Amino acid sequence: MKALVYHGPGKIEWEDRARPELRDPGDAIVRMLKTTICGTDLHILRGDVATCTPGRTLGHEGIGVIEEIGSAVTTFHAGDRVLISCISSCGKCEYCRRRMFSHCATGGWMLGNTIDGTQAEFVRTPHAETSLYPIPAGVDEEAMVMLSDILPTGFECGVLSGKVEPGSTVAIVGCGPIGLAALLTAQLYSPAMIIAIDLDQHRLDIAAQFGATHVLDSAADDIKARVMALTDGKGVDTAIEAVGVPATFLLCEDIVAPGGVVANIGVHGQPVELHLERLWSRNISITTSLVDTYSTPMLLKTVGSGKIDPTRLVTHHFKFDEILAAYDTFGRAAETQALKVIIAFEERSA
Ligand SMILES: NC(=O)c1ccc[n+]([C@@H]2O[C@H](COP(=O)([O-])OP(=O)(O)OC[C@H]3O[C@@H](n4cnc5c(N)ncnc54)[C@H](O)[C@@H]3O)[C@@H](O)[C@H]2O)c1
Ligand SMILES: [Zn+2]
Ligand SMILES: [Zn+2]
Repeated sequence: MKALVYHGPGKIEWEDRARPELRDPGDAIVRMLKTTICGTDLHILRGDVATCTPGRTLGHEGIGVIEEIGSAVTTFHAGDRVLISCISSCGKCEYCRRRMFSHCATGGWMLGNTIDGTQAEFVRTPHAETSLYPIPAGVDEEAMVMLSDILPTGFECGVLSGKVEPGSTVAIVGCGPIGLAALLTAQLYSPAMIIAIDLDQHRLDIAAQFGATHVLDSAADDIKARVMALTDGKGVDTAIEAVGVPATFLLCEDIVAPGGVVANIGVHGQPVELHLERLWSRNISITTSLVDTYSTPMLLKTVGSGKIDPTRLVTHHFKFDEILAAYDTFGRAAETQALKVIIAFEERSA
């Protein structure tokens, strides 16, 4: 089969790999139908993610058809169409019982990180029963791809960790797919103000279309002064960091209001200064989180009912053998105006 393989910083190849086989009784082998590329894949390519070593097939998002199930899998069968969560979870260990699936003792963020991932014709999914979701009939399958990672990530790590409330003020720093997913899901809670911040004017235009009440260009504006002016000098109740570089985390430290939350989503490869000499007295919280995907069942219903339409994030389509072009397009988003790219595999009759 073909797979997109990481060969160290800056190096990926679309190459022949052995088809994955069942290893544990809880595994399933899934034939991929659609996958996508995440900002985290770009962090891996920059060498920011030490756990992902050369030789790894990338990808932690997508939908597919179950090809084969292990002997312990009873709720799925060959031929079922499934959503693959970016987090594998056993459902039984101490962390899973606390809904912290991202820290599952035998799971967590494995796909496209510590085991081969979904940017391939076939993938082995551990803990299949508690990590795959049946795709409801009639639902838009491209919308489902947005539920593997970006929607639960923006919602859990940004909106819920950031305690967005009715009437509250929110800043989202970084309007890539993750920041925009936070923007879409923040509106479930009716905040009074959502300030979207990015360097890319196109992404700011999209943020305005998606419901941001204000957009600020990091390259041009004195962001801290603008946010203070918009919030009567207080700052925002929730500052969501959705980039993963020191400058944007520092900005969140600067614009969080007393009693507010800095909700970090970005994957960081560099240390960041924490200005406790200013922040110690401001009663703020800082949250960090790897997405747990505990909100996936709720988001499935929200998307299914049309309350949220994540297909608005899909900008480009590629065939599976055009995946290198998809990486190029996604990696040059400022020029190509890409948000989420869908990579489609050939549908085969059963
Ligand atoms: N915590 C998690 O579980 C989790 C899960 C998925 C993704 N992530 C991370 O979330 C982050 C966002 O992912 P994405 O797919 O949206 O990435 P992306 O690269 O598409 O988007 C990042 C955005 O930040 C903007 N940006 C860059 N520098 C900026 C600056 N100085 N000021 C303002 N904006 C700036 C870019 O223009 C871009 O629009 C990444 O770090 C990704 O690795 C975390
Ligand atoms: Zn991701
Ligand atoms: Zn577990």
